[in-house]
Amino acid sequence: MTEKDYSGVTTSKIGKNASANSNSKPTASNLNNSNKKSKTQKNEVETNNTDLINNYKKAGEISSKAKKFARDLIKPDMLLVEIAEKIEAKILELGGEIAFPVNLSINEIAAHYTPTLNDETQASGLIKIDLGVHVNGFIADTAFSMDLTPNKEYTNLIKASENALKAAQEVVKQNKEQATYSEIGKAIQQEIEKLGFAPIKNLCGHGLGEFDLHAGTTIPNYENKNQNIIEEGAIAIEPFATTGNGLVYDGAGSNIYHIAKYQQPRDNFAREVLSFITETKKSLPFSQREIERKFGKRALLALRMLEKTGIIEEYAQLVEQGKGIVSQAENTLIISKGKVIITSE
Ligand code: CO
Repeated sequence: MTEKDYSGVTTSKIGKNASANSNSKPTASNLNNSNKKSKTQKNEVETNNTDLINNYKKAGEISSKAKKFARDLIKPDMLLVEIAEKIEAKILELGGEIAFPVNLSINEIAAHYTPTLNDETQASGLIKIDLGVHVNGFIADTAFSMDLTPNKEYTNLIKASENALKAAQEVVKQNKEQATYSEIGKAIQQEIEKLGFAPIKNLCGHGLGEFDLHAGTTIPNYENKNQNIIEEGAIAIEPFATTGNGLVYDGAGSNIYHIAKYQQPRDNFAREVLSFITETKKSLPFSQREIERKFGKRALLALRMLEKTGIIEEYAQLVEQGKGIVSQAENTLIISKGKVIITSE
């Protein structure tokens, strides 16, 4: 799942109202935090680090199996809700937890759409499948694109984001802990422009933390002149290539929500819904679909109530400004002690 870059500031601003996130955590990744502990704690830290990396790897393995499952499953005209429900069920069956609702975004919608239970939208055109798995809170965030047109008109556009992702991964691998944000962005931009498309400049990759989908850093999709060296930790790199202008705007609601502030609502039922969300999702995004499946139709009223009081916020669909078609590719990487592991490949 991507992050919209609001005027180049590193923030966790997301959603229709883009208000500050009160559940934001320290920006350094967990790997970083562990490394900063004193020497006496070293063994303990290393054990923790191994556990942590194993959790990231397990989440990554499940995410690649879920991607393969999705690739075989998706056919033109299939209902998006059937696709989303089956992929999420597969993640659970494989022993993972859902880190965020499966995003199924078509054509000019770059990201952030998940179907509702009675959604009639069918798969078509260029569809992006962005899925998230977590194991004990450690996340694999990964995405790919499929061309569902009869004449396969988007082959090159899909190749552009895939090549960009590969090139960015190479920059990180080659430079170990010396790659700058701008170098990663430059590699992405070059690969996409080489095939005649534009990178989406106001969408970026991001750091990942424990139960935290957008922790700290943002990874640019163009040469942004940020000469800082990328931190150790877990990151998601996610280039978007488009036939349009290379910018997205906030469109209609996505049916995906996150908790924006921790506060108890006055209404009893809304309180019940909220405690289900915090218990099952912690600080991770959730869908209207999951809540409706659990509580039935009346859950929609509770969600509206929670949104009105600012306790939850809905993400906006991110739509390409020039109505350009958009492709996406994404992997999760962990950078630790000079080693780079691509967990979701
Ligand atoms: Co992401």
